Amino acid sequence: MEFENLLGIIGIGKMGSTLLKAALKTIDNQQIIIYDIDEKKRQEISDQYNVKEAKNNVNLITTSKYILCAVLPQVIDDILDQFMNIRNNQIIISIAAGVSMKHIMKKINKEIGIIRVMPNTPALIEEGATAISHNKYVNQKDLDFIKNVFREVSLVVELDEKLMDAVTGLSGSGPAYVFMIIEALADGGVKMGLPRDISIKLAAKTVLGAAKMVLETNEHPALLKDKVASPGGTTITALHQLELSRLRSSLISAVEAATLKSKSMKE
Ligand SMILES: NC(=O)c1ccc[n+]([C@@H]2O[C@H](COP(=O)([O-])OP(=O)(O)OC[C@H]3O[C@@H](n4cnc5c(N)ncnc54)[C@H](OP(=O)(O)O)[C@@H]3O)[C@@H](O)[C@H]2O)c1
Repeated sequence: MEFENLLGIIGIGKMGSTLLKAALKTIDNQQIIIYDIDEKKRQEISDQYNVKEAKNNVNLITTSKYILCAVLPQVIDDILDQFMNIRNNQIIISIAAGVSMKHIMKKINKEIGIIRVMPNTPALIEEGATAISHNKYVNQKDLDFIKNVFREVSLVVELDEKLMDAVTGLSGSGPAYVFMIIEALADGGVKMGLPRDISIKLAAKTVLGAAKMVLETNEHPALLKDKVASPGGTTITALHQLELSRLRSSLISAVEAATLKSKSMKE
């Protein structure tokens, strides 16, 4: 093999360690190398998963075919400064929110394959939603390799990079909207006399079950909603209240606001 390691992961925090576990399901542990600035964390993770530990970022970059940067956006420029010896048969994968491929290319100043990925927090429990985009230097084999890693922890969709801000506004920030919805539903249950712990469980399982029905039946959510709402019943009475309080409009505005905020952060 031309490279000592198939995959190098820079930054073994929440996402980096999740993706390490995902990668271990698709490739051999001896083909993975990791580096994190935190020596203790680095050693713990490499011992736990029996993967190689790089001496530093440059050592990882020069020995890995695929280099996954799982560091915070504030740190990515410092990392990119260490890519000076990268070769054009290597692929950079970035999950840093709001960092464009154009920015990475400009920093590296080389025509190189870049894959930009936007996962979300539920990837930590293998229930994520991930969008992937790539530049013209990435071939199908490289793309499939990376998609397969992310598929271990999430649903994966491929999109043009210009839609990444909308992804941030919907699935990137979306878990927070849903947490708020679950909290509010649980409050409703408590107001109507349910114990708090039971109310939270019922609310969360209701959201999970409804989401699964959308994905598994492939039916439009409006049709599924209609099936729950019987004539003159409790559900249609509640749905009327939600329309009066503009729930749908609020959620559309939330996605729009987060998308615009994501766009403005790069200007
Ligand atoms: N968490 C999510 O749900 C989520 C969702 C979508 C996208 N993302 C993206 O994923 C990226 C990582 O997020 P995260 O939540 O996993 O962050 P995190 O838990 O803070 O992990 C980042 C890791 O990188 C290490 N690090 C910092 N500087 C480094 C350097 N120079 N070289 C090597 N390692 C370095 C950090 O060490 P120290 O802690 O010692 O600084 C930390 O272990 C971010 O760009 C974020 O935008 C995250």
